[in-house]
Amino acid sequence: MSDSSRHNHGLARGLTNYGDAKFSLYLRRSFASSMGYSRELLDRPIVGICYAGGGFNNCHRLVPELIDAVKRGVLSAGALPIEFPTISLGEVFLVPTSLKFRNLMSMDVEEMIRAQPMDAVVLIGGCDKTVPAQLMGAASADLPAIQLVTGPMSTSRHQGERLGACTDCRRFWARYRAGELSEPEIEAVEQRLASTAGTCAVMGTASTMASISEALGMMPAGAAAIPAVDAERLRIAEETGRVAVTLIGSERPPSRIINQKSLENAIRVLLAIGGSTNAVIHLAAIAGRLGLEFDFNRLNDLSETTPVLVDLKPTGLHYMEDLGAAGGIPAVMRELGGLMHLDCETITGETVGDRVESWGKWVDRTVIRGIKDPIQITGGLVMLFGNLAPGGAVIKRSAADPRLFEREGRCIVFTSLDDLAARIDDPDLDVTADDFLVLQNAGPKSAAAMPEAGYLPIPKKLASSGVKDMVRISDARMSGTAFGTVVLHVTPDAASGGPLALVQTGDRIRLSVRERRLDLLLEEGELERRRSLSANQPTSSSTRGYSWLYDNFVTQANEGCDFAFLQKNGRM
Ligand code: FES
Repeated sequence: MSDSSRHNHGLARGLTNYGDAKFSLYLRRSFASSMGYSRELLDRPIVGICYAGGGFNNCHRLVPELIDAVKRGVLSAGALPIEFPTISLGEVFLVPTSLKFRNLMSMDVEEMIRAQPMDAVVLIGGCDKTVPAQLMGAASADLPAIQLVTGPMSTSRHQGERLGACTDCRRFWARYRAGELSEPEIEAVEQRLASTAGTCAVMGTASTMASISEALGMMPAGAAAIPAVDAERLRIAEETGRVAVTLIGSERPPSRIINQKSLENAIRVLLAIGGSTNAVIHLAAIAGRLGLEFDFNRLNDLSETTPVLVDLKPTGLHYMEDLGAAGGIPAVMRELGGLMHLDCETITGETVGDRVESWGKWVDRTVIRGIKDPIQITGGLVMLFGNLAPGGAVIKRSAADPRLFEREGRCIVFTSLDDLAARIDDPDLDVTADDFLVLQNAGPKSAAAMPEAGYLPIPKKLASSGVKDMVRISDARMSGTAFGTVVLHVTPDAASGGPLALVQTGDRIRLSVRERRLDLLLEEGELERRRSLSANQPTSSSTRGYSWLYDNFVTQANEGCDFAFLQKNGRM
């Protein structure tokens, strides 16, 4: 660090205003000294360590160890590390949904990066919404930032069978619902599904967002898939701290690393890994923070030319720890080769091409397939359009039954999650395996705040007779760990008066994955008649606080469910 950088950085940044800058710095140093720092350390540039810890987030249990490791890296490279917490979003502990609070966390991240004196920042997150919230906040603050994830859980065993959260959670629960598992056995499984620290062990949203962050160039090579409990996770944390110091005074803020080309790299990787549908929402939100275009038609084009290469649950057989051992995301990017923008710069200063070139050549072909021998020749996700979803809908075709892709079906409509819970297992429910289950009022504008409820359970009377999959359609999301022929994110959502709100039991819907269509088979006149009857339904019941903000400003899924006023080119 040069002398001048010492004087313009660190504690001297962004002084609290008392009308006397020297006094402000003197006071700040004095208070910082009370924490026992030497003057030599207080003169150094500062790397903030933004972490989302807390007892309500099991996925972040080892964050304290990661902070220590990052600090080692920062100190060894000559800067002063100072950690600070933000809110944390533990996926299964939040009501109504973690997504509702993602924007709140992103605001926390953005404002605390901006308000506190730091020259670069390390973002430590992992659980589903925390990484997107950190990337969104850091993108808006646009201070040099580098991502560190907590890493995936390791798997365990139940009666010799390998288990990992949370595709297996759903698989065992479906067997329990079908009467194949006893009460004691499902309790035993409950204890073994999530048996280490870290994020869900399959290609769920957390693993997808970690992979995407690496593909964007926002973390060191290979960092996404290292298990949470592996010593290598601590070494990559230390390296992350060292890299953060190199960012100080550099021209490598998030707005330079995340651009239209690196966004396409992230989409390519998302498709090749069979990643979570939730990533479509989060990528749209991250893009919106930087004024980048996130075009669903472009995603469909990329999906046609990007094979699924990674054999992980829920699309395939393996777990995230296997992806790390098989070669990790750099090996996936090497397979994608010319499909990637290899000239994109990453946070370490290398290009994507440099990373791919210098990464070890060994790869485990049982987990990462070659581009000439893919699991599927086209990408995992497809966007659908039609009169039922003018703003788009998504289906994860890599985790669905292709026999259900070209279908017309009778709708069985559930008007809310409560209605679903009350009737789905009713023995008198008039439903067959050929019907389409439709859920309304579970989108971003609903009181439910877009829960991961799009994976509607198979009605018990069908499940017990062996039905494993049906076409399911909703404005909800689905956990990245789930599988099935499930159409999600129907936009606009029912609560904001979208066509989904007009569907009634007995109507027919046509799904064509090949044609990218989702259509309600009704005459426009009938649609108009129903629309006139359903107009002016109230959508917001909140009168104060964050819920009021959310209800009034959340955008639809195709805009990332962000708040318009947080987007770079957002409108109020
Ligand atoms: Fe945190 Fe799945 S619950 S990643």
